[in-house]
Amino acid sequence: MKAAIVGGGVIGGGWAARFLLYGWDVAVFDPSPKIGSQLEAILTNAGRSLPALADVPMPPRGKLSLVASIEDAVAGADWVQESVPEDLAIKHKVIAEIEAHAPARAILGSSTSGFKPSQLQEGAQEPGRILVAHPFNPVYLLPLVEIVAGAGGDVAARDAACDMLRSIGMAPLIVRQEIDAHIADRFLEAVWREALWLVKDDVATTEEIDDAIRYGFGLRWAQMGMFETYRLAGGEEGMAHFIRQFGPCLSWPWTKLMDVPELDEELVDKIASQSDAQSGQYSIRELEAIRDRNLVGILRTLKERNWGAGKLLNESDARLAERARSPAGTGDADAAPLRLLESTVLPAWIDYNGHMTEFRYVQVFSDSSEVLFRRVGMHDEYVESGFSYYTAETHNQFYDEVGADEPYYTTVQVLLADPKRLHVFFRMHAAADDRLLATLEAMYLHVEMASGKVVAAADAATEKLMALAELHAALEKPASAGRFVGQR
Ligand SMILES: NC(=O)c1ccc[n+]([C@@H]2O[C@H](COP(=O)([O-])OP(=O)(O)OC[C@H]3O[C@@H](n4cnc5c(N)ncnc54)[C@H](O)[C@@H]3O)[C@@H](O)[C@H]2O)c1
Repeated sequence: MKAAIVGGGVIGGGWAARFLLYGWDVAVFDPSPKIGSQLEAILTNAGRSLPALADVPMPPRGKLSLVASIEDAVAGADWVQESVPEDLAIKHKVIAEIEAHAPARAILGSSTSGFKPSQLQEGAQEPGRILVAHPFNPVYLLPLVEIVAGAGGDVAARDAACDMLRSIGMAPLIVRQEIDAHIADRFLEAVWREALWLVKDDVATTEEIDDAIRYGFGLRWAQMGMFETYRLAGGEEGMAHFIRQFGPCLSWPWTKLMDVPELDEELVDKIASQSDAQSGQYSIRELEAIRDRNLVGILRTLKERNWGAGKLLNESDARLAERARSPAGTGDADAAPLRLLESTVLPAWIDYNGHMTEFRYVQVFSDSSEVLFRRVGMHDEYVESGFSYYTAETHNQFYDEVGADEPYYTTVQVLLADPKRLHVFFRMHAAADDRLLATLEAMYLHVEMASGKVVAAADAATEKLMALAELHAALEKPASAGRFVGQR
């Protein structure tokens, strides 16, 4: 799959990183002379953080190209994401050029924070495929993307777009009715306006406002949002009680929501200097890295609890695992160890010493065995029907260290297969230089799960495994197969 990114700033760069890390090829067009270094910085942050959210192999990264025109960027693209500055005239010009060259199948998403799809669609040749796909910074970590098709939108194109976005780990929120600023920014505008008043009126500094958010309700919002949180505030009597109790306060003169503070130079300077005093000791790059590390930590905690954004990550892992289980390579016919997994070492697998930690090797070989079983036709339905291979014995040997993000692949040599037993020898290699990282010799027994008894496997699967064993008999027997622990 290919994504074209038109405008590679903060948001376009974030999109590029997300697509690349989910295995899409990405072409970026941005006339800025700084585009190369700008993208590199975003990709570095994204490469360190997004893969740390996954507990299954991510697809091999896609290929990035920086191109000299919109025409080159959109050639052959399945998705075009417009992320140029928030100026309707610029957006119209860019959209017209995209439409002139993009393939008919391509979806055209706009990152606009404020424009409605009907405004973007004005004058378009094929308005139906132009959607608002409004993400949140950093695009490579935050899953939310607001999808607005508008009245002129094509529902089938919108639904196809949502499926594509889910496949890159995003959570599309369909905004049914087009409004200025969609849902989230409309809400954030209100909070932002109050914050500006609080600073202007000398009630609070930028730091005090941030503390009021991050030490309290910000933590609640990150995991339950507003309505679920307030439901709890109503106690056993629930939401209706809460609203009846606190609703009347809304008419008190608490908020200045309807008034907009005048953003004169005095207020801009005041906010900027308070912000410098609060955060000026960090560079923007340092603050981004801190933000990303914190977000990874929060998201991983929610993932363990299978809640909120963490639940989405588990769903994304399940989709990635399904993709990784599909056969890699075509090896069946070759008289060579069969290639199984092709992936990269995940950052979350790294030990205090900077190398892949011991139990992850077991995980890699366990994932490899699943790929092998699927290749001989034993999918989830086989296990659901009550049969499975159980691991009876294993012997792991470690040969070399491997670091984060290093690509690797695994192979299997089938040493023996009969209806009840499967004896295999897995190898894990670094993809860059084929060096051997680890091996696992394993004996599996085919078990009827209800009785726990060893029984013959399905004929078709046994035949395929026996054919592999026969093919692999021509290979040299692994020198360490059958070795006992501590053997010299
Ligand atoms: N910054 C945010 O938090 C945020 C969040 C969500 C959505 N958005 C939206 O994303 C869009 C981009 O915002 P941003 O923050 O990334 O801005 P940005 O200034 O960081 O990036 C815009 C990029 O577009 C490039 N550009 C300008 N004209 C171009 C053209 N004709 N063709 C191709 N590239 C061109 C610029 O060189 C720049 O690199 C806006 O519509 C904005 O509303 C921003």
